[in-house]
Amino acid sequence: MVAGWLSRPHVAEWWDTHAPDAVEEEFGPCVDGTDPTRVFVCRLDGTPVGLVQMYRLDDNPDYARAIGLAQAAGMDLFVSDPERCGHGLGPDIILATLELIWAAYPEVTCAMAGPSVRNGRSIRAFEKSGFTAVGPVAVPDEVDEEMVLVRARPTGRTGPTAA
Ligand SMILES: CC(C)(COP(=O)(O)OP(=O)(O)OC[C@H]1O[C@@H](n2cnc3c(N)ncnc32)[C@H](O)[C@@H]1OP(=O)(O)O)[C@@H](O)C(=O)NCCC(=O)NCCS
Repeated sequence: MVAGWLSRPHVAEWWDTHAPDAVEEEFGPCVDGTDPTRVFVCRLDGTPVGLVQMYRLDDNPDYARAIGLAQAAGMDLFVSDPERCGHGLGPDIILATLELIWAAYPEVTCAMAGPSVRNGRSIRAFEKSGFTAVGPVAVPDEVDEEMVLVRARPTGRTGPTAA
């Protein structure tokens, strides 16, 4: 299912994981627990409608150095059906993922995302979700610069109440 989603043009334009083998390579270790990145299929009333992954930048030091953030967690997402895009589902997924980030990573003080500077729709979805764009950053091995967007942990939200 995820391999099919990744081959859809509206997703493939922004995600570089395409062939079925690459899907196993990219997400298999996350599912097996050998890569600390956490990946989720998002469901709406039981129907799978997208994918989101979240990760601590401290687990990805090269990326953290390029972005210039510490004690932060990043997220990437897509909405699987093009006809579901533009109706607020992306911000719903972003806000739900933020709650997971605050709960799963108690030391993290801010959440971030780094969509391509060309991906105006994604940048707007994060801004609608309370993120602030802090500027474009060049990341090694990425063709486009990334627009770094950040959102601070809400005051008083210090960590998980349940595992
Ligand atoms: C990016 C994505 C997650 C956003 O989710 P969504 O549900 O479509 O988001 P929204 O419903 O908030 O709609 C996007 C907003 O961007 C605006 N927008 C659309 N195209 C835009 C553009 N080129 N430039 C600026 N804003 C744009 C829309 O008008 C809307 O804002 P509004 O509600 O103020 O009118 C989703 O569109 C998606 O999965 N796209 C394909 C894959 C992708 O780009 N993933 C992100 C990789 S980081």
